[in-house]
Amino acid sequence: MSGDGLRQRKKDAKAKKTSGTPATKYPEISSIKSSILLFIAMFTIGFLALYSPKVAWRLISPYFTPQPVWEPVPPSRGVSAVDFSADVPKREATVEAFKHAWLAYERDAMGDDEYHPISHKGSNLSESGGIGYTVVDSIDTMFMMHLDEEAQRAREWIATELSFDREGKFNTFETTIRVLGGLLSAYHLSGNDPLYLEKAKDLADRILPVFDTPSGLPLSMVNLAQRKGISDVDNRGFVSTAEAATLQLEFKYLSLLTDEEIYWEKAEKVMEVIKGSHLTTGLASIFMNPEDGRFVLSAIRLGSRGDSYYEYLLKQYIQTNLSEPVYRVMYDDAMNGVLTHLVQKSQKAGLTYTSELIPERSMGGEISWRLTPKQDHLVCFFGGSLMLGAITTGSATGKVSVPPRADELTEQGKRDWLAGVELIETCMRTHDTATGLSPEIVHFRIPNDGIDGSGAAQDWYIKGARPGEFPPYDARYILRPETVESLFIAFRLTGNRLYRDYGWAIFESIQKYCRIESGGYASVVNVDEVPVRHEDKMETFFMSETLKYLYLLFEDANVLPLSQYVFNTEAHPFPIFHPSIRTGFS
Ligand SMILES: *[C@@H]1O[C@H](CO)[C@@H](O)[C@H](O)[C@H]1NC(C)=O
Ligand SMILES: *[C@@H]1O[C@H](CO)[C@@H](O)[C@H](O)[C@H]1NC(C)=O
Repeated sequence: MSGDGLRQRKKDAKAKKTSGTPATKYPEISSIKSSILLFIAMFTIGFLALYSPKVAWRLISPYFTPQPVWEPVPPSRGVSAVDFSADVPKREATVEAFKHAWLAYERDAMGDDEYHPISHKGSNLSESGGIGYTVVDSIDTMFMMHLDEEAQRAREWIATELSFDREGKFNTFETTIRVLGGLLSAYHLSGNDPLYLEKAKDLADRILPVFDTPSGLPLSMVNLAQRKGISDVDNRGFVSTAEAATLQLEFKYLSLLTDEEIYWEKAEKVMEVIKGSHLTTGLASIFMNPEDGRFVLSAIRLGSRGDSYYEYLLKQYIQTNLSEPVYRVMYDDAMNGVLTHLVQKSQKAGLTYTSELIPERSMGGEISWRLTPKQDHLVCFFGGSLMLGAITTGSATGKVSVPPRADELTEQGKRDWLAGVELIETCMRTHDTATGLSPEIVHFRIPNDGIDGSGAAQDWYIKGARPGEFPPYDARYILRPETVESLFIAFRLTGNRLYRDYGWAIFESIQKYCRIESGGYASVVNVDEVPVRHEDKMETFFMSETLKYLYLLFEDANVLPLSQYVFNTEAHPFPIFHPSIRTGFS
């Protein structure tokens, strides 16, 4: 049905074009002329084909490349019936997994920032004590899963033990998305328990001084006890674009709750600075200078230090109920850049993936950009994000069906939706490993990459993984959520069981290879090696994101609908609202 709609529109467009052609006055002459032209063209191409087949093919191949047909889910894979009811056994399996993770942490390391499930120990981010990294990051998942007793104990710890009066260097971005974000969604989901808002405000006030730079871009680190921003000497004092531009949902929601404009202004100013120094392509380099607010010559990518910049452009537009058009403009601009410059197709199977652009300076000082076919697992958030963007800024009618019909989306909307669907497929293909888990970083094959073609059957590979040597960083799975996050969004926007099946397969691999019998879950050092070797760490995002998105994937879709909630980059949901304070900048 939807395919017909698209074809019909194309026909209409064609019909319009022909009737509008001015050459109808002398039809015979114009048809003779075009026959001659056609003959010349055929002759030229024939000639070229003899002497330079490559050039000839480049000329005619666009006419033979099939146009994409509208399939809102991968053809022949998806089940067409939309079913949003809960899959109770699978949902409950994710709750069991959460309890297995949480109860071990509680037993061994309650209150510590991080958990090491194999040595049964906890550790803190600074010598001066924890800041509730794991507890606060996990509590809203407990609310969703109706784990009332666990949530009650976590609340008790927050009420009696949690303190932000800690010396040490804390990462501004991580502290904001995990701890501030966790407190704010706990406040909302608990039915406005004032404890969480009080703690959130205390933390935010300690973070605020990071914005006191000449440009307004935040410093990367903060000493919470001294209320002082600290610049990141490891990166020459520069700040990551993603880190500077992924604080806004949290500070703006806090502003709404407290009625204090300062949080809003500081967070919004960052976006204004970024817009002011934007690169012509709509893309953003991964580092900025907090002194002058300009981009620093550095890589452009959707992976680490770039990822959530793009995510929050869209989500800021969604958070204030589409009332700030500046974010729509910035997002659309960015997507044009990404789709034009970063999105590629793999050689053999035609998988859609994203590359990175690496700047290189020649001897003469000229800068050129090298396209590198490296994709972080982090990029797997982008499939779902593209689909969400497609029905938001790419909606032609204001209302979009589930799944969207072709005539409900603009050209850009259709382009982004299809790219999102394909990127999720690619991320699923990167789970074709011995464990069914995907590695931290994959490289895609390109011509002349120096890899022996006979050995490499796949379109992608893990760089530097050699038998007998300790696996490289690239080969790990550290319990990351990005693929299941995209599956959750894709399911909510299509109602297609395919995405639940994909999520279940990943969950089963996690159960099989990451679960530690005595409690907790651990990272795997090489996803392509069985039996697995573990790394003694359970990242906090496993309980706050990975298990939450899996749970919500199998939960009834009426719970936390995407029309009413926006998830921060750590999977903490905030309600969408209409701002009374400001309506964006331009
Ligand atoms: C972490 O900090 C807390 C204080 O919040 C302290 O009680 C705990 O002992 C510390 N844990 C470790 C492993 O040092
Ligand atoms: C968002 O906008 C829509 C349409 O304008 C409106 O129906 C809805 O109530 C708004 N939601 C909020 C939370 O303001």
